[in-house]
Amino acid sequence: MAQNENIIIINCGSQFTQLIARRLREMKVHSVILNWDSDSAKVSSYSPKGVIISGGPDSVNNPDAITIDPKILALGCPVLGICYGMQLLAKLTGGVVSSGGSPEYGVTRIHRTSQSRLLGASLPDTLNVLMSHGDNVSSLPEGFTATSATDGGVISSIESEAKGFYGLQFHPEVVHTEHGMEILRAFAFGICGCSGDWDLSDWVNVTVGRIREAVGGDKVVCGLSGGVDSSVSAVLVNKAIGQNLRCVFVNHGLMRKNEPEEVMESYKALGLNVVYVDASEKFLEALKGVTEPEQKRKIIGRLFIEVFDEEARKIEGAKWLLQGTIYPDVIESGSKKGAAVIKSHHNVGGLPEHMKLKLLEPLRDLFKDEVRQIGRLIGLADSFVERQPFPGPGLAVRCLGEITRKRLDALREADAIFREELKSAGLYDGIWQSFCVLLPVKSVGVMGDSRTYREVAALRAIHSQDAMTAEWVRIDYDVLDRTAKRICNEVKEINRVVLDITSKPPATIEWE
Ligand code: XMP
Repeated sequence: MAQNENIIIINCGSQFTQLIARRLREMKVHSVILNWDSDSAKVSSYSPKGVIISGGPDSVNNPDAITIDPKILALGCPVLGICYGMQLLAKLTGGVVSSGGSPEYGVTRIHRTSQSRLLGASLPDTLNVLMSHGDNVSSLPEGFTATSATDGGVISSIESEAKGFYGLQFHPEVVHTEHGMEILRAFAFGICGCSGDWDLSDWVNVTVGRIREAVGGDKVVCGLSGGVDSSVSAVLVNKAIGQNLRCVFVNHGLMRKNEPEEVMESYKALGLNVVYVDASEKFLEALKGVTEPEQKRKIIGRLFIEVFDEEARKIEGAKWLLQGTIYPDVIESGSKKGAAVIKSHHNVGGLPEHMKLKLLEPLRDLFKDEVRQIGRLIGLADSFVERQPFPGPGLAVRCLGEITRKRLDALREADAIFREELKSAGLYDGIWQSFCVLLPVKSVGVMGDSRTYREVAALRAIHSQDAMTAEWVRIDYDVLDRTAKRICNEVKEINRVVLDITSKPPATIEWE
């Protein structure tokens, strides 16, 4: 990567550090995240065009607060401190940071108070920005100017053009900050002089090289789920080490209509070395009589690992386990309620100790849309890359009540009809997730002259950015009407169709 321009991001523990890197990638600037304790020699070895000091949860006035090597400030490249980073920058250059003043959390209004290189002239004088701080800079270091302040009078940005030091008390990297990208652009292009010489194809080349170097002649095993993340990871590693990548695709019998066949075909077309394991009977047997959602998930998670382990053991000399972990998974595993269950399906944490496999996670720092872009770059078809997210436990969490082959088949048919109708109306691709849920409720109907007493299907379609929140999709009534008619006519186990109009929160996307 030496040929590319770099911005070094020094991570002081902010939950947004990866987001800063992501924003820079969006503007085609390469960045490297280093831990706060990296010394100036390490930073300098990247010949950085600039340094960004991230936010962090600490207070600079805490005697044990993390700090950076002050020699980094003498490297001669521009430095931008964000939130905690600005306070650290101020403190290290002779300013004063006060604790216990006016904390500000959430979207806050700021006003420009003087000319600024960072808040360029094209920006409005007033901006709504995301603040998240307890401390604030109360006395500026020598040579600095305060360039903006909040309604409450707190200094919200500082700079010393002569020294090349810039500070933002707010987070330009989050979408809640107006013109945040322009502010970061002003730093990367206007102040650091980056030209934007990097793109995701560079990422692919570098990553493939790194995988090759790390893995050498070892074998790597990979559990493919049919999803975008595991598939993109596998194709990348396949590019690096070819047939030494051994993939296992476990069909747990809980996939959508025709999905196992379609997915296997795609894998073959991509040149992946895949073993197909049909474990559907095993899963059905283990799920017999189980209706409690968490119990279903646990059984599926445990069995998946068992089946995968059995197959992986057959691969002699396997030293690595490839996983399609992406950055939101990393965050969720640390914080999201229920994440342990979500993770147990795919996560190495759940794999048996004796496997002693080293972990390979090439997508760990990326966001979903970046993974999709990379998927396209390395030859995955649009239709594959744009697949809607599908939960690890599959239709088990959409087949409420007892899971039987008959009920699963009915759900698969109804789900396929809903998908077909959305596709033919041109709506499917714009929806984050859409699916059918089979309810363990029977209701009375009339078909022809006969009474029916059958189960109910619920239609669920949601828009989302990241699956953390979701809004139900207002689907055209005619599309809903066609879907309901077809389901009742074509799926003999169902005589009633309802629409789920709950957003998340309060509901979750999946029903179980
Ligand atoms: P919820 O239902 O929690 O779902 O709103 C959020 C997102 O996660 C998916 N999901 C899962 N994905 N294993 C997965 O890989 C799981 O166990 C799992 N449960 C839910 C869900 O489809 C939605 O996209």
